[in-house]
Amino acid sequence: TELRPVTEAAAVKVPTLPDAQTVTHVRHWTDRLFSFRVTRPASLRFRSGEFVMIGLLGDNGKPLLRAYSIASPSWDEELEFYSIKVQDGPLTSKLQHIEPGDQIILRPKPVGTLVHDALLPGKRIWFFATGTGFAPFASLLREPQTYEDYDEVIITHTCREVAELDYGRQLVDAIRQDEMLAELIGAGFADKIRYYPTTTREESPRMGRITELLQDGTVFRDLGIDGIRPKTDRAMVCGSLAFNHDIKAILEGFGLREGANSDPREFVVEKAFVG
Ligand code: A2P
Repeated sequence: TELRPVTEAAAVKVPTLPDAQTVTHVRHWTDRLFSFRVTRPASLRFRSGEFVMIGLLGDNGKPLLRAYSIASPSWDEELEFYSIKVQDGPLTSKLQHIEPGDQIILRPKPVGTLVHDALLPGKRIWFFATGTGFAPFASLLREPQTYEDYDEVIITHTCREVAELDYGRQLVDAIRQDEMLAELIGAGFADKIRYYPTTTREESPRMGRITELLQDGTVFRDLGIDGIRPKTDRAMVCGSLAFNHDIKAILEGFGLREGANSDPREFVVEKAFVG
């Protein structure tokens, strides 16, 4: 059973799905990436950086759900998501065809470790993302608390190809112009954001895995920073399993310790959903 658009006729015949939300916008960034927005349940409260389970009805009539970071900030009227498209992926092979007016399932139980509560106070925060791991940072970069808590916000994004950086780049550009954030935290807030995109399989101004650029010191030279220190630096990590593993080792090498909601420390990690 495909989920049907909420046309008048369908609305009468099809009973409302449990936890159904209506798609309001869809944007395709590349043949492998898209983002979309859906209505937000009035009762849903979450902390910027958290994820929820979303999905569609599967062919067997049962919900097919996956964990998706909410890419919009906690104050937003709608919910935004950033997704990969996998042609034979059980969920994303279908999800990539949603259009405004369609319904998706959204379980309104937000959870996750990429939240400010899981970090001890610091001066500089690093957001390390690969691929669709940018999503929780799309939320946190629009969250006023990020700029209230830190003097400097560094967002690194490593992708294979240049076009895969577009969603993040446009978002960072828009945030720098954001009048509401400027009003809330002061016009200088935009100067706190350092955006550091890298590609690994297509020529761009900065090439290489962020892990390697951290290890050989390139990042620090480029940004004019003398390293990562447990006293001042905090980090949030979201990418593939291998990426998370490698960054974690690097951060621990700098003396940072992994934290959790119940035990705030210097960095936190979450796996981006793939497929
Ligand atoms: P690479 O092209 O060298 O594999 P993917 O699309 O496979 O999820 O990867 C997204 C980006 O993350 C790619 O640029 C990829 O680089 C990079 N990447 C994958 N694994 C790691 C890792 N263990 N450490 C750092 N970067 C990684």
